[in-house]
Amino acid sequence: MARKHSLAPASVLPLFTCMITTFVLALDLDTTSATSISQTASTIASSLFNTYHNASATSGDFEQPEPWFWWLSGSGWTALLDYTVYTNDTTYQTALLTALSENLGAGHDFAPAEQQGWEANDDQAYWVYAALTALEYGFDAIDPCVSEGSGVSGTCANSWLSVAVNAFEDFATRWAADAGTCGGGLKWQYTSSANGYYYKNAVTNGGFFQTAARLARYTGNATYADWATKIYDWSAAVGLVGTSFNVYDGTSDEGTDNCSTINGDQWSYNVATYLHGAANMYAYNGDRGISEQQVLWSQRVQGFLGAANATFFSPPSGNATGVMYEQKCETTSSCTIDQTSFKSSLARWMAKTAVLVPSEAEPIHGLLATSAVAAAASCTDTGDVTCGMRWWNADGFDGYTDFGSQLSALEMVQSLLVMHAPGLATLAPS
Ligand SMILES: *[C@@H]1O[C@H](CO)[C@@H](O)[C@H](O)[C@H]1NC(C)=O
Ligand SMILES: *[C@@H]1O[C@H](CO)[C@@H](O)[C@H](O)[C@H]1NC(C)=O
Ligand SMILES: *[C@@H]1O[C@H](CO)[C@@H](O)[C@H](O)[C@H]1NC(C)=O
Ligand SMILES: *[C@@H]1O[C@H](CO)[C@@H](O)[C@H](O)[C@H]1NC(C)=O
Ligand SMILES: *[C@@H]1O[C@H](CO)[C@@H](O)[C@H](O)[C@H]1NC(C)=O
Repeated sequence: MARKHSLAPASVLPLFTCMITTFVLALDLDTTSATSISQTASTIASSLFNTYHNASATSGDFEQPEPWFWWLSGSGWTALLDYTVYTNDTTYQTALLTALSENLGAGHDFAPAEQQGWEANDDQAYWVYAALTALEYGFDAIDPCVSEGSGVSGTCANSWLSVAVNAFEDFATRWAADAGTCGGGLKWQYTSSANGYYYKNAVTNGGFFQTAARLARYTGNATYADWATKIYDWSAAVGLVGTSFNVYDGTSDEGTDNCSTINGDQWSYNVATYLHGAANMYAYNGDRGISEQQVLWSQRVQGFLGAANATFFSPPSGNATGVMYEQKCETTSSCTIDQTSFKSSLARWMAKTAVLVPSEAEPIHGLLATSAVAAAASCTDTGDVTCGMRWWNADGFDGYTDFGSQLSALEMVQSLLVMHAPGLATLAPS
């Protein structure tokens, strides 16, 4: 999302919808069977990898048309980390550990030299989520251990924990540099010449919030929890997080704007980012018996879930209630290649929230199951499986194909396995 879209959205409209719907066989998903879910996820993951992975295409490794989105590769690898844990299928483990190590950069913080000049805070965050996921699921550290440089003392500079902390420190430093406007907040871009430098937005501040909250829960270190609270309070004060927990896209600090007006667009990954951060704060406080704070964060988790349900689960087709959709762009077929991926974030973080906030597991599972059946039904079952963009389309596959759509379908289906997976680790029992 760092780059401005140079593709006209209309240019990706499907050309052959009518032709194709006549012979498409949808994937049939039985949400009560872990075997069925695993097999369906495996089919979708394999075509995601076979179609888009190209080790020489970009340093992010997943090939996409211009403007290629480095952050999307980071999201793709996070999905495959989850996939590996959820299914016990290690097919992609070597490739993903290689890709993560190649994109770390000299500061071990996912700011590699190749991306310099246009990498934005949110791009970085989407790779940091991979490190946090590897940490929480106990993946082997990147080999070899780098013993010198920044990082957490007592661990390698490129340990998963060090990487996440290094990026956290980057964000905190940039927040301080940006604090002259709007009473705080991270800018979208951290390079002043980049387009979007004056945008203080939800995916960026939500990304910092979630990173801090996950570090707080994992380490138990109150410094991270204090930051998470500060970022959350700022987001609410400035209006990125609304009073009904709707999450709005961004605000500006250009000239005298001082974040006085809000871009009210709602995208599913924004509410998802805050939802999972709030779930981690709920768990952090719960683990420490800080019940007043736990109640507060529980209300926020419920608030974000309610806003997500109200905004992203009522597609226009009458019989598709409860099916996740990207309301800003799916009905007009104007989703860009990164916007089609946003549902993968919502599926991923609703599922992880169910793990951390058990009282929400059942309602979350209901929404995930309905959507996963529809997502699977949107995939063609003719050789290499391709999943569509509109899961609420009654005819199955809608003829739309891209990395983001495939990624969203994968995360949607595999999210049903989250409760069978090992729990999310912490450094030490509280
Ligand atoms: C992989 O990426 C390289 C570098 O951009 C390109 O030359 C090559 O054609 C790509 N391979 C495939 C199979 O698309
Ligand atoms: C993965 O393996 C673990 C431990 O060996 C097991 O408990 C779990 O059920 C397996 N998961 C799947 C989806 O097969
Ligand atoms: C900008 O907004 C912040 C936060 O609302 C406020 O504290 C500050 O006084 C404002 N600055 C100006 C110049 O209006
Ligand atoms: C807690 O985290 C902060 C920020 O990374 C770090 O400076 C501090 O040393 C940590 N405290 C402990 C006890 O690890
Ligand atoms: C989602 O919203 C619908 C109404 O639009 C409601 O019937 C349903 O109970 C909600 N589900 C959850 C899990 O909150």
